[in-house]
Amino acid sequence: MNVLVIGNGGREHAIIAALAKSPTVDKIYCMKGNAGIAELAECVDVDYLDLKAVGDWVDAHKDVEYTVIAPDDPLALGLADELESRGHRVFGPNKKAAEIEASKSFAKNLMKKYGIPTAAYETFDDYEKALAYVEKGKFPVVLKADGLALGKGVLICENLEQAKAGLKQIMLDKAFGAAGNTVVVEEFLTGKEFTPGEEVSVLTFTDGKTIVPMLASCDHKRALDGDKGLNTGGMGTFTPCPFYDDEISDEVMNKILLPTVRAMNAEGRPFKGVLYFGLMRTPDGMKVVEYNSRFGDPETQVVLPMLKTDLMEIFQAVTDERLADIDIEWESGACVCVVLASGGYPQSYAKGKEIIIGDLDKDVFVYHAGTKREGGVLKTNGGRVLNVCAKGKTIAEAREKAYKNVEKIHFDGMQYRKDIGIKYNAKG
Ligand code: AMP
Ligand code: GLY
Repeated sequence: MNVLVIGNGGREHAIIAALAKSPTVDKIYCMKGNAGIAELAECVDVDYLDLKAVGDWVDAHKDVEYTVIAPDDPLALGLADELESRGHRVFGPNKKAAEIEASKSFAKNLMKKYGIPTAAYETFDDYEKALAYVEKGKFPVVLKADGLALGKGVLICENLEQAKAGLKQIMLDKAFGAAGNTVVVEEFLTGKEFTPGEEVSVLTFTDGKTIVPMLASCDHKRALDGDKGLNTGGMGTFTPCPFYDDEISDEVMNKILLPTVRAMNAEGRPFKGVLYFGLMRTPDGMKVVEYNSRFGDPETQVVLPMLKTDLMEIFQAVTDERLADIDIEWESGACVCVVLASGGYPQSYAKGKEIIIGDLDKDVFVYHAGTKREGGVLKTNGGRVLNVCAKGKTIAEAREKAYKNVEKIHFDGMQYRKDIGIKYNAKG
């Protein structure tokens, strides 16, 4: 079978690497791909936010039997609907289901209505009202632009002055564009043992009936060591999550995963695809920080390498709503991913810097996030550039291996966190 994967980043590279191992997958296309993906897939230069153009391309390529939509924005625009309406098989939720990520106010209202634990909140589309509410409230307070904002539309404000500036930035200056027409003002959650809060990413496969969690992983969202600096798309990940034991996993299944699947069905928005739960362990139990309607980036880069089951078989089972019939198996041990980013990310950064990759250990894998090849030379082409990933028996072993290989990679302005895999007492 030939498969098309939509997306450009490290997540897509990891998905394609897993699909390339499938005995049922012959050829992979990627729209648009990057220099690393080009080694495994034929890259297609079509703008995937142009739904008609994607539909026309898939119609014209009769050999493509299945399309995987990885990023949030084409899902939010309705690319799954577009392709399905033309009779194609797709992995990814339709537009109505993808709203669970695309609108934070939709997600918060869903959780309130169905009793799914999350931070207390109010939503506002009027700046003056939002300001009056914040003036009476507690600090820190969390401000979230309602729509998609590349993981950057969340501001944690320590005091009134910051909150005023934040509301202005989101609602008046429209720093995140139309995403800021509505703002969610949220209670700040703290961790049970560690500060800042203990977060875990639980990606799941669901066909709208059955929900199967993948291995839990931890992201490092802030740009700098010690969780300092601005929020980013994610600077590194590791799995397993040290505090995510069987008891927590059961609590999450019963209070969060299953209720969310049921809630989406009750709302007439059955979710089929990867539903990602960003969770926090708080003194009052596990709470939802965010939903995503897709694989996480860079969580996917540590989770999929641990998958023993054929990913294409899982995708097909989700499409056909027979996820309950298959067993999904995982390797034991750990995996760590260190993101190498361009200097300046998540704010402005230069592109087109030459990347030198030395002789890496054989069992280390480098997923490309923002790269291109120009005249045979590998160059940077985005904020997050490369993901250096390694497995080990323990997190400590995996991180040591990953960092040893990071040192063999260079480009001008390269920045990365030195503390990926060191939190929540991660040992193994
Ligand atoms: P989000 O895009 O909603 O995942 O938010 C980005 C990051 O902001 C999260 O990963 C958390 O680290 C932090 N955050 C979001 N909401 C809250 C909250 N209510 N309390 C504490 N931290 C939060
Ligand atoms: N790593 C966070 C995300 O994919 O949204």
